[in-house]
Amino acid sequence: MAYETVIVETRGNVGLITLNRPQALNALNSTVLKELKQAFADFHDNEAIGAIVLTGSERAFAAGADIKEMQPLQFADMYKAEFISGWDEIAKARKPVIAAVSGFALGGGCELAMMCDFIIASDTAKFGQPEITLGVIPGMGGSQRLTRMVGKSKAMDMVLTGRMMDAAEAERAGLVSRVVAPERLLDEALAAADKIASLSQPSVLMAKEAVNRALETTLEEGLRFERRLFHSLFATEDQKEGMAAFIEKRKPAFKHR
Ligand code: HXC
Repeated sequence: MAYETVIVETRGNVGLITLNRPQALNALNSTVLKELKQAFADFHDNEAIGAIVLTGSERAFAAGADIKEMQPLQFADMYKAEFISGWDEIAKARKPVIAAVSGFALGGGCELAMMCDFIIASDTAKFGQPEITLGVIPGMGGSQRLTRMVGKSKAMDMVLTGRMMDAAEAERAGLVSRVVAPERLLDEALAAADKIASLSQPSVLMAKEAVNRALETTLEEGLRFERRLFHSLFATEDQKEGMAAFIEKRKPAFKHR
């Protein structure tokens, strides 16, 4: 498929998606959503791909949902079309997705980064949920995912004032996992994704499922879920191989990468 608003590439066993609407600071419109869904689906179906990196430009990861596209919409149109619900599909990707964020990650851009499994930021990154300044509120998970990630006080501060958070604050708050120099950003994210892609895929997918379950259930249920997944991995050849390789002091040759 020929893409208009994203660049889709592979780097070894890693899928790389670059948001590419520079004239609008990568604002997310319906074409971006359609193309991202397609790119994610293709990487999911491609057995060689073990992890995905989603990035933007140096100036902007994404400056939000496209305000020009949204401005004239009416309630009934949005409600009938269940506007923006399509983004849930991105959040439900089974393979690990790393957001590599430089510059602005605002509104839907911040929300898209939070749909990924973790965020690596350049020290120029700026995160925010400025929807309140437009007379609306976050609509792609900002009030929910940000609150789970940084806690109520900081989430309220961000969502009620619309202020931006820089990379250092975002790292302190637990929104991002690492901060690197801008010129290192893509290499750092690709290296992390490459490491994930080199591991046994069943264990990687289950690890992702297990961590996500922590956000959705009680501790007791979560622990039970984790233990069952852990047990089930002993049915895989890769568990035998991984542990044998450790004992024999060699690199594992995983079958299900
Ligand atoms: C459409 C956008 C845009 C957006 C920037 N642009 N953000 N277009 N939707 N979200 C466009 C500008 O109109 C401009 O186009 C060009 O990108 C460059 O932006 P400038 O404003 O000239 O750049 P700068 O002065 O550097 O300011 C950067 C900025 C600012 C601080 C990021 O652009 C900004 O505040 N953007 C909006 C951020 C925001 O409110 N995001 C939340 C959106 S609501 P022209 O053609 O004029 O040159 C949202 C809801 C999500 O995300 C959930 C429900 C869908």
